[in-house]
Amino acid sequence: MSEARTFLPEPDVLDNEDVAAAYSRWAPIYDLTFERVMRPGRCAIAAATAHMEGPLLDVGVGTGLELPMFASQLEVTGIDLCGSMLARAAQRVERERLKNVTGLLRMDATRMAFADASFNCVVAPYVLTVVPEPEALLDELARVVRPGGEIILVNHISGRDDPFAILEKWLDHHVAPKLGWRPQFPWQVVSDWLDQRPDVELVERRLLAPFGLFTYIHMHRHEQASSAIITPEFAEPECVTPEFA
Ligand SMILES: C[S@@+](CC[C@H](N)C(=O)[O-])C[C@H]1O[C@@H](n2cnc3c(N)ncnc32)[C@H](O)[C@@H]1O
Repeated sequence: MSEARTFLPEPDVLDNEDVAAAYSRWAPIYDLTFERVMRPGRCAIAAATAHMEGPLLDVGVGTGLELPMFASQLEVTGIDLCGSMLARAAQRVERERLKNVTGLLRMDATRMAFADASFNCVVAPYVLTVVPEPEALLDELARVVRPGGEIILVNHISGRDDPFAILEKWLDHHVAPKLGWRPQFPWQVVSDWLDQRPDVELVERRLLAPFGLFTYIHMHRHEQASSAIITPEFAEPECVTPEFA
């Protein structure tokens, strides 16, 4: 078990069953509740991918709020654990005639059925804090993106001087399974993972509206032999994670 895992709340705080059940409850009111507050992150992802080549994988596509934002050339596949969320995404694709969406699949993002290096770009808007094993999700994102491809995440990351820290801690220990996400999520989980992945470089990390509540995280998977990816402990580190104030 990596050090990052010990930094998180007890592993039984969330499990896939809790998460899927929570999002089945959220599904009917998800757009009403989260469309606006999380729009800046979806816009940031759409802008970053606007001139990229597909195929693009949207992990945790939910009700598909970001799907109409993607550029027409991207050939988007969306996956989600929760059937009720996915059904709404499918209705959106039909309603808005989104021709660039080539598939919507029910799948666990920490155990994806795709072959290695299947996508040119992988995005995961607001998903890292909802999976029980975030490192397993990051491993999978890096596996299915092709060498030379991009991984883009948006998520809430707890700050050191976060005024919400006490509330986040309380929510973590009392209602995380019911909410379907982990309110407290330290950057160290991502930075520890990056430290073990010389094949993946952090390109950009920035705070987003509203109030810096969410963080945009852009990573690039280097072109290099896959043996270095399978046994990163034997590989020479090739990238330096930029420091942030
Ligand atoms: C906060 S929502 C984000 C939805 C959408 N990306 C958005 O921006 O509105 C998180 C989504 O991740 C999905 N999810 C949670 N765990 C997952 C997993 N292990 N594999 C795939 N999807 C998962 C949930 O069902 C939910 O639809």
